[in-house]
Amino acid sequence: MDFTSLFRPGIRATRPYSPGKPIEEVQRELGLDSIIKLASNENPEGPLPAVIEAIQKAALNINRYPDAACFDLTTKLAAHLDVTPGHLIFGNGSNEVIDILIRALVSPGENVVFSHHSFIVYPLTTGVHFECGRPVSLDANDVHDLDAMAEAIDEKTKLVIVCNPNNPTGTYNTRAQFEDFLAKVPPNVIVGVDEAYYEYVTADDYPQCLPMLKQQPNLVLLRTFSKIHSLAGLRVGYGIGHPDLIGELHKTREPFNVNMLSQAAAMACIENWHEVAGRAARNREQLEWLAAELAALGLAVVPSQTNFILVRSNGDAGKLTEALLHKGVIVRPMHAFGLGEGALRISVGLPEENQRCVEALKEILS
Ligand SMILES: Cc1ncc(COP(=O)(O)O)c(C=O)c1O
Repeated sequence: MDFTSLFRPGIRATRPYSPGKPIEEVQRELGLDSIIKLASNENPEGPLPAVIEAIQKAALNINRYPDAACFDLTTKLAAHLDVTPGHLIFGNGSNEVIDILIRALVSPGENVVFSHHSFIVYPLTTGVHFECGRPVSLDANDVHDLDAMAEAIDEKTKLVIVCNPNNPTGTYNTRAQFEDFLAKVPPNVIVGVDEAYYEYVTADDYPQCLPMLKQQPNLVLLRTFSKIHSLAGLRVGYGIGHPDLIGELHKTREPFNVNMLSQAAAMACIENWHEVAGRAARNREQLEWLAAELAALGLAVVPSQTNFILVRSNGDAGKLTEALLHKGVIVRPMHAFGLGEGALRISVGLPEENQRCVEALKEILS
């Protein structure tokens, strides 16, 4: 039976999300003993001992449903960010908050503006939700073209998503660019700023959006515990916005969308927020080392404010990825992101992992 015809056109046209290959899959397929994964922008440093302890303690209660309101987690994060609890919504990863935003806001015929070469979930989610995506190209420097994005807004636009810094390019929009953009966005269009990597940013002119919320009630910030906090496997992300707007979003989320272990782990991360600066500094040091080594190999390196680097080779990134895979190094080719055949994204790993990646590339490219 052909079930495809039963589904909405947007779903028929969508290909499932294809994540970075898990280590176990490569082990199974290639029979390699030692494999490193630099493909999904995860934190190579494991979870903090306090996080493991919190999970173990919480595990004793998993016969009960989690707190549907994430009360303790919300209270703790609100105090940390100096916002009210009403400003916050948690999701099963920030991915879910993005999904909630799109589903809650957009009716058939309306649209969502985002950058074409950005987080792949924006086209995927808008694709299956009434094909409401309106992608706009990056500028010539691989940066969000905020002027073009503002121009793409029309009377049917409900949401604009700005990924800052951007995945997969690692580039960012400056405060001046962002403020200029905000001034052009009508107040009834929601601006979602995806700040999944904001803790890694070192640029002085990066916009601090949280204090802007007071003057800009149409702003929603999207953040996550998956990256610098090392909780990718537990799926906790959050949105920050005007309480009236966040209140509407709460109506559409599933009742128990953040599980008990994830809530406990995220709270332990907040209690240990002082670890973030060291993690960011170690990432920066390795990012700079890796960028210099990759450039020395003749690859074009896009300057990054994140924990990953976009590089462009002259050849076929798919083949290069495959050759690296056979040497036990998992990276991500970027053709699915529409960045050209030679584009490859490499996540920053531990020092020894980055060295191994560079050695493998040297052997392949020589
Ligand atoms: C830009 C961006 N936003 C959101 C996410 C989703 O993160 P989460 O794990 O919180 O769903 C990612 C994950 O890679 C990302 O790169």
